[in-house]
Amino acid sequence: MKGVVPNDHALQTEAQEILLTNWCGKYTKPSPRLYPHQWNWDSGFIAIGFSYFDQKKAQQELRSLFDAQWRTGMVPHIVFNPAVAGYFPGHDFWESHLSPDAPSFHQTSGLTMPPVHAIALLAIYRNCHNTAAVRFLKELFPKVKALHRYLYEYRDPLKEGLVYIRHPWESGTDNSPAWDEPYRSIDLTHVEIPPYRRTDTTVINAEHRPTKEDYDRYVYLVHTAKKQRYDEKAIAQGFPFLVQDPLFNGILCKANEDMIEIAEIIHEDAGQFKEWNEETRRAIDGKLWDSQMKLYTYYDLNAKRRTTAGAHSGFVPLYGGVPDSSRAQELIQTLQSERFRGAQAENYLVPSYDVTSPRFNPVRYWRGPVWINVNWMIYNGLRRYGFHELAAAVRQHSLDLLRRYGFYEYFDPRKNPPPSENEVPARPGERREMGGYGTDQFSWSAALCLDLLHQNS
Ligand code: GLC
Repeated sequence: MKGVVPNDHALQTEAQEILLTNWCGKYTKPSPRLYPHQWNWDSGFIAIGFSYFDQKKAQQELRSLFDAQWRTGMVPHIVFNPAVAGYFPGHDFWESHLSPDAPSFHQTSGLTMPPVHAIALLAIYRNCHNTAAVRFLKELFPKVKALHRYLYEYRDPLKEGLVYIRHPWESGTDNSPAWDEPYRSIDLTHVEIPPYRRTDTTVINAEHRPTKEDYDRYVYLVHTAKKQRYDEKAIAQGFPFLVQDPLFNGILCKANEDMIEIAEIIHEDAGQFKEWNEETRRAIDGKLWDSQMKLYTYYDLNAKRRTTAGAHSGFVPLYGGVPDSSRAQELIQTLQSERFRGAQAENYLVPSYDVTSPRFNPVRYWRGPVWINVNWMIYNGLRRYGFHELAAAVRQHSLDLLRRYGFYEYFDPRKNPPPSENEVPARPGERREMGGYGTDQFSWSAALCLDLLHQNS
């Protein structure tokens, strides 16, 4: 493979093979070694990928995830495979049984993730259209509705239509610089952090992963939630990390919209989703827009202020149809400015963080690298607003990265990243240059590649 740039057909075949390799019988692991269990939003993206060539697996993926839904309606961020040992943070760390709302037949984490499920559900239907797909819509509709209801009931304390996340892992963008400001109120020298041992850095270069301080915070926040027995009402009244995220809420808008469409297909009442959708759209636009940065940003409920983070998540409200056309135009200017494009327009789009910021790091996980799933949402958002040229560029850059480096987890936004001493050497026969980081054979990179190849422009 080395030196050969795969054509669309080869890329598609490779993507399908990755999904089939990572398929575990009832769900798909995000990658062969680094992430051996089932992850929440990964499964949504994976189901979209499977819906192009294996409807049964696409449906089973979501069914398995919702089998582990909590009684509150929360869908956990990890569903553990009891046959797999040695992962941190494993089920023994989470102790989800502390909550009376956790399912008894599944081991899960005690958090959730961005609600992409309705989007996946509609994609499954669109790519199939037969009676089995309609039955599947009917089966999942009440479960997804319970999830949305949970978010509005427990995660929107001000009843303004904006839901909060209570752990950076819930955003899916674990170590984004967006958390640097909310973290200021957590003094690591004065909080209780139970002992733990990471496993991720035994598989992946530590320079490309979150730092020890990040992990200390992750562990501390889980420990605090456990002390509150994952009781949502208690957590809402006081927790060290409560943030309203433009990516999570932007996805929620899109998911509400897709639930409206699903309700119409299966003759259910869409009224509640219309209300939620309108509320959330307005609230994101009213509270998270930063007119100086010309970007959506985050609101820290503890500090009672918007943060100044310039992350790719700030473009995701386009996907949910949040801005009006003039605000969308401003967002486009930001996307095309040197903050995301680089001074000579030399970057791959879309870096996960403003490249001109001192917080930017081109190799460290969510602090700069390009991620295919967020690119995919931005691409769809740009198309929605008629910015076809820019959408085509985001699509092209995503496919170029996958072709050039392979199905990695995240990618260096610089077109010519300097060789680094820390780089893992290429395996023989592998299509590997400097620039694809984290795990290889990453399921959502494969799944969304299939969707991008289908979109054609
Ligand atoms: C990492 C990512 C998260 C993803 C998970 C499994 O934690 O930050 O978004 O869901 O890995 O792929």
